[in-house]
Amino acid sequence: MPVRPDSIPASRAAQRLVILGANGLLGSSIVRHFAGDPHLQVWRLDRNQLNLADPLLVDETLASLEFDWLINCAAYTAVDDCEIQSGHAYLINGHAAGQVARICSAKGARMIHFSTDYVFDGAKGAAYTEEDPVNPISIYGRSKLIGERQVLAADPKHLAIRISWLFGPGRPGFPEWVVRQAASGQLKVVNDKVGCPTYSEDVAVWLRRLLALPRLAGGVVNVCNPTATTWFEYAREILRLTGSTVEPQPITMRDLPGLQAARPDNSALDPALFETLSGLRCRPWQEALAAHLSANGVAS
Ligand SMILES: NC(=O)c1ccc[n+]([C@@H]2O[C@H](COP(=O)([O-])OP(=O)(O)OC[C@H]3O[C@@H](n4cnc5c(N)ncnc54)[C@H](OP(=O)(O)O)[C@@H]3O)[C@@H](O)[C@H]2O)c1
Repeated sequence: MPVRPDSIPASRAAQRLVILGANGLLGSSIVRHFAGDPHLQVWRLDRNQLNLADPLLVDETLASLEFDWLINCAAYTAVDDCEIQSGHAYLINGHAAGQVARICSAKGARMIHFSTDYVFDGAKGAAYTEEDPVNPISIYGRSKLIGERQVLAADPKHLAIRISWLFGPGRPGFPEWVVRQAASGQLKVVNDKVGCPTYSEDVAVWLRRLLALPRLAGGVVNVCNPTATTWFEYAREILRLTGSTVEPQPITMRDLPGLQAARPDNSALDPALFETLSGLRCRPWQEALAAHLSANGVAS
């Protein structure tokens, strides 16, 4: 299928962007924030236009485009399925990310690659900085770490942005699940995993700021809506904001049947480096969650 840009640049100085995984939770937020800007020329590619499982297609499609930045939001994100389809996980999250990064380098373009808090084992017991040693405990986490490493090995000017526990308008996520379960009167929520719920719309805003920085260095950077919480406390905040009187029942991850992958106990991220680089403050997840629920008409 021919790939056409969403918007034509107003001038030669316009930035040309390719967004992969454009239909995903994060990709759709980023597309919404970037497409339609007359100073940007945006190609939004979904899986139908560019299947990362097909290296020849990846080469051909990207060779046919001229761009300054490539934003990779595409990934195999089904954490439990990755344990079963490990070859596919390593291909999409690891090697394809590396292939895309090498193509970008050869074209003189920079790549922004999204990675995950699941590159950590969760044993630190406090929020992870970019300096902390990685030690993934699932195939998903390992495959994403391979992706990060291949991207940065292709060109030190590329950037891997680690994010965590995403929610947003693009796809139903944890807040939507909690509201649905609460409506049925039955809500059991995991209370032994800690992380930072992060709003995809905020990530899009933060990304925009990064792209506007005159001298953006490559490497790894964390972004999230601080501070750490459990899924249980996160659910209680959703219930409070939606005016629900349902009392959730705390459970442990072990109580959930059918999970294949291990999850870190505490994979909270520390966004201090990003805040220093960007001059922005990452608002608390409670504020971001309230904005999301009210934008979707479910806050009371
Ligand atoms: N969601 C989270 O809580 C979370 C947490 C930490 C990090 N991350 C990272 O953040 C990034 C975005 O995640 P997300 O939540 O937006 O994921 P998502 O909603 O699952 O979106 C991923 C996108 O990748 C596309 N994709 C999957 N396989 C592909 C393939 N073979 N070729 C091309 N595209 C393919 C999907 O296409 P379809 O639309 O066809 O399915 C989808 O649009 C990922 O790198 C993920 O690892 C996410």
